[in-house]
Amino acid sequence: MKKLEVFGAAKLKGQIRISGSKNASLPILAATLLSNKKISLANLPRVKDIETMILLLKSLGSIIEDNKKELIIKNTKQAKTFAAYSLVKTMRAGILVLGPLLAKFGKAKVSLPGGCAIGTRPVDIHLQALSKLGVKYKIIQGYVHANAPKGLIGANIKFPKVSVGATENLIIAACLAKGKTTLSNCAIEPEIKDLVNFLINMGCNIKWTAKRTVRIEGVNNLKELDYSVMPDRIEAGTYLIAAALTEGNLKITGIDPKIISTEINILKKVGSKITLRKNEILIQGSKKIKNINIKTSPYPGFPTDLQAQMMVLLCKANKRSHIKEEIFENRFMHVAELNRMGAKISINGNQASIEGNIKFEAAELMATDLRASVSLILAALAAKGKSVINRIYHLDRGYEDIEKKLKKVGAKIKRIN
Ligand code: UD1
Repeated sequence: MKKLEVFGAAKLKGQIRISGSKNASLPILAATLLSNKKISLANLPRVKDIETMILLLKSLGSIIEDNKKELIIKNTKQAKTFAAYSLVKTMRAGILVLGPLLAKFGKAKVSLPGGCAIGTRPVDIHLQALSKLGVKYKIIQGYVHANAPKGLIGANIKFPKVSVGATENLIIAACLAKGKTTLSNCAIEPEIKDLVNFLINMGCNIKWTAKRTVRIEGVNNLKELDYSVMPDRIEAGTYLIAAALTEGNLKITGIDPKIISTEINILKKVGSKITLRKNEILIQGSKKIKNINIKTSPYPGFPTDLQAQMMVLLCKANKRSHIKEEIFENRFMHVAELNRMGAKISINGNQASIEGNIKFEAAELMATDLRASVSLILAALAAKGKSVINRIYHLDRGYEDIEKKLKKVGAKIKRIN
């Protein structure tokens, strides 16, 4: 099993360039299934989830050429509509092929997804919304068997809850549906805006008509397209927190600070000195970290994908802090491991109470989900001595070149195969 050795305590110093966004790339890759025209995608992060999505697209008949800078994708009219469990099990975003397959071929058989073990993570909202576009489905032995006998037909749909994946699946599906679709109570994460931008450039007819409402008119023809995916705001937030935690001094490049203003304001409140430039963020971590209470919520709120990392930082605050997790019901799996490193975090329902003034101790650790894995690296960077982090495959699903990037700014980190 692969593991990481991390030697602390390190003060990170230097420059980190942010990679392309995993969570924008995945729906964009799924959306390429809509088209038979050539699509070139640049700035995809080379991480395991993207590799898995590429394999999934290939299994669905996409012809994909990778020249390392760009991925060139071509589809044919050939209807391959089966997304196997072996490909979808490790990655929840596998369900995102359901919408485009139904839109293009009127049928699909897609495995129910896996992904991080951070809650039950059903896909009921995706399925109920698709049924409003005329889809009939059954779940048989872990697979969604879906078809749209008359093709997809535009409808007005109000999501019962804000869901990133369901919003993406439905926007993609509606692009080829007959007539107009209005989706309300949509997620408005920057990754969704990037997906919409990609789709519009491909010839789809989409318009935001209110903050969480989007109107889509089905089209028949799509265009060839070269597109570059947006930068990864969660990766940027992770490195900003790393600097705040280690009293470091980092320049984060390749990202528009506007898309992470909530995170930046919180880091300022806890004491970091931050300077914003066009596509650059300079951060100087302070010796004294102030406590704060935060809750995760859909964008533009504080992202659940930075909750674990933030919790590590708050262990070093001057007083007790609280974090309320409002998106996933089981996203505190890092807590037990952080407590083994000397943290004093207690959980009550969806609320974590985090004692401050902690000195992390190095330990042998087990990574659980993607963001929990990176939170253990952060804690290990702040601890004196050698920590060993086991089961890092989750980390490889989502962080491009993490060891290389951290080493470049002074971390001592080594992968053991
Ligand atoms: C996406 C992100 C993930 C992030 C999450 C929330 C990708 C590939 N993943 O995941 O990194 O943590 O948004 O920002 O972009 N839910 C249902 N029924 C459904 C769908 C969702 O009950 O059909 C629930 C989920 O269990 C969760 C909440 O809704 O409690 C939000 O989930 P959702 O926004 O759909 O997250 P994902 O798209 O899975």
